[in-house]
Formats: sequence, structure tokens, C-alpha cells
Amino acid sequence: MQKILIINGPNLNLLGTRKPEVYGSMTLNQLVDELTQFAQKKGCDIEHFQSNHEGAIIDVLHDTLNKSYIGCLINAGAFTHYSYAIRDAIEAIPTPCIEVHLSDIEKREDFRKISVITEVCSKQFKGMGIDSYKKAIEALV
Ligand code: DQA
Repeated sequence: MQKILIINGPNLNLLGTRKPEVYGSMTLNQLVDELTQFAQKKGCDIEHFQSNHEGAIIDVLHDTLNKSYIGCLINAGAFTHYSYAIRDAIEAIPTPCIEVHLSDIEKREDFRKISVITEVCSKQFKGMGIDSYKKAIEALV
């Protein structure tokens, strides 16, 4: 079966309790379970990785060089807005990466309007909650 890697960055482990009015009430486990079922109906397996650490996310991106994912979904959390190191790691790998956000980063604080990873991602889906991830899965399969 084809495989998709989902990377969730800092603070996304707190989904469900962190600002539910912005990020929704679903926990990270519920989100991943629903995405796994969604992807399986489309003939894809999901592998999921969450970390609050920049270097750990970079290591997992580098690891895709030894794996055969059809693509990667990345919600880099706040790293989206300033991590040139994650940007460079995405650029360094051939696996296509799609940037996803639960909220609409363009309609929030000024610092969130900037994404340093958009340029190296093949697409961006934002502002649709879990549907941002589903649209990204659909774009890959
Ligand atoms: C987020 C938006 C970021 O600005 C924020 O730091 C997050 C989540 C989103 O999914 O909407 O942690 O990436």
C-alpha cells in the first residue's frame, strides 16, 4: 500500500484542549485515527510523527530519503513562521511536502501571516480544520 507521512509540530500534542475555538475539540489521536481511516479508503497508509523539537522534525524529514512515501503532510506549528532549518530540510528531500494548518494563518496575528516553508512545499491547505489534512491527502493520492 502507498504510504503518506504526517508530521505535526510543536504544541499539536495538545489538540483538544489548546484553544479549541481556534483548533477545534478533536484530540491529536482522534485526528490521526480519522485521517488514517480516510486515507485507507483511498488505498493509503498513514505514518504519523509529532514532536515539539525542531531537530527531531528535521531528522524525520531526512529519514524520508530511506523510505518510499508518496508524500508528506507537514503542520509545522509555530516553526512554520521562522524555521529556516525545517524549510531547508523540506527543500533537501525529493518527497513532495504539503503544508497544512488547522487555522487560517493569514487571518490571524501578523507573525502567523508569514510562512517560511510555503515556497518549498508543493501546496498549502489551511483554515479548514481536519479538512485541511484531508484535502492534502486527496492531492497526493
Ligand atoms: C497552526 C498555526 C500556527 O500558527 C500555530 O503556531 C500552530 C498551529 C495551525 O494548524 O493552524 O501551532 O499551524
